[in-house]
Amino acid sequence: MKRKQAVKRTITDNTVDPDILAYTVGDDVTLDRQLVVWDCMGTAAHVTMLSEMKLKKPVVTKAEAADVRKALAKVVDDFSKGRCEIREDDQDVHMAVERVLTERLGDLGKKIHTGRSRNDQVAVDVRLDMKFQILEAERELSALASALCRFGGRSGPVPLVGRTHLQPAMPSTVEMWATGHAEMILDQLENMEAAYRLADLNPLGSAAGYGVPLPLDRGRTTELLGFSRTVHNCFGASMARGECEASLLSALAQLMAVLSRLAEDLILFSMPEFGYFRLPREYCTGSSIMPQKFNPDVLELVRSKAAQVLGLQTAAISLLHAMPGGYNRDLQDCKGLYMKGAAIVRTTLRILAKVVDGVSADAEKCRAAFTPGVFATDVALRKVARGTPWRDAYHDVRDNLGQLDSEDPDDAVKAKNHEGTCGGIDMKLYGARIESAAKSAKTRLGKLMDSLHALLKLG
Ligand code: ARG
Repeated sequence: MKRKQAVKRTITDNTVDPDILAYTVGDDVTLDRQLVVWDCMGTAAHVTMLSEMKLKKPVVTKAEAADVRKALAKVVDDFSKGRCEIREDDQDVHMAVERVLTERLGDLGKKIHTGRSRNDQVAVDVRLDMKFQILEAERELSALASALCRFGGRSGPVPLVGRTHLQPAMPSTVEMWATGHAEMILDQLENMEAAYRLADLNPLGSAAGYGVPLPLDRGRTTELLGFSRTVHNCFGASMARGECEASLLSALAQLMAVLSRLAEDLILFSMPEFGYFRLPREYCTGSSIMPQKFNPDVLELVRSKAAQVLGLQTAAISLLHAMPGGYNRDLQDCKGLYMKGAAIVRTTLRILAKVVDGVSADAEKCRAAFTPGVFATDVALRKVARGTPWRDAYHDVRDNLGQLDSEDPDDAVKAKNHEGTCGGIDMKLYGARIESAAKSAKTRLGKLMDSLHALLKLG
């Protein structure tokens, strides 16, 4: 009986009008499920730090902190198995976890929020989740780059008409096309890493954004949670909420734009009119009326998802730009934006890797597409080799375009050997970049999981 009353008092406010409550809670009841594990990890670190604070009368003893950590491990398990839920009157994951802990631990559960606000609590949860999402996405990104390199490798030196303005331009190869896209994708790791570095800072201990009159050891939670450092200024820590999400969304939008261009090339080159690439039949969808259709819907949806992620990024920036300093509830809406963006990017990376693994090049059709004009620049350069100044050679060819002969595309691509052109693609370089990116993401994921397990001793 006593315990039940105690639980009731931990719910922040039971005087809120139900419609207002529903509107303010928004999607948190479902979105916050993704944060349960990180929320419990943050609480375990916070309570451990509280138990180590040098006070005449400790807020929680070391033995109590151990009990909380043990109970938190069970909470994670119970939420994952549907034995616990976030309720509308909890408002969010933070109050749900506190409610469950209080039901199970009584007064000890009521102590876990000492010196903390939901503002720094949610900021920690979101940063831990973003670190996890970024590292997983980096692994998936490396796998896609690897699939593209494999496609390039198995197509060997198949000549492909290189295009500018979509018009036939110069001799190229399928390998150059595939590894060119792989390199663009790998370069996106720079943006992802910038987002990772911003997420990898600990805001815990900033409380509502102004600190608390308790000797919190903020460095200790930074260490326990495995962050690279603490966000020093408490007010700054509260304002960084949302900024991190927006930076991640900017990296995700940029990456999606790159993936969308890959999808567009695949759509074009697998059109019957081009016929350079073949998509497996089972990756194409049919029409309800036209029996002959095998459509690349999956790739069209990559384009539409790119537009959506750009929209999410715009929503995040718009949400932030006019908001006053300190916590404002607007920030809650950033959560769904980054979660949706990360989920879209991660599925898209996986689906594209599958599609690319299934793609094959039609060497005959690729060769047949070489019109005499594609060799025009090579012809002019041969004149240069014989001593004609470039501009004269250019005009000689341009004035006699009708006299250009058809040439052997294989010979043409063999003649291009400098760094990064048809014969100068360093596959080992991509292999090394992919391996190191995948390894670095895996190592950091391992460290994140080690910190989680050390705090919660999950099974
Ligand atoms: N669900 C809230 C969010 O995501 C938690 C923080 C609430 N803080 C507050 N001061 N109302 O932002």
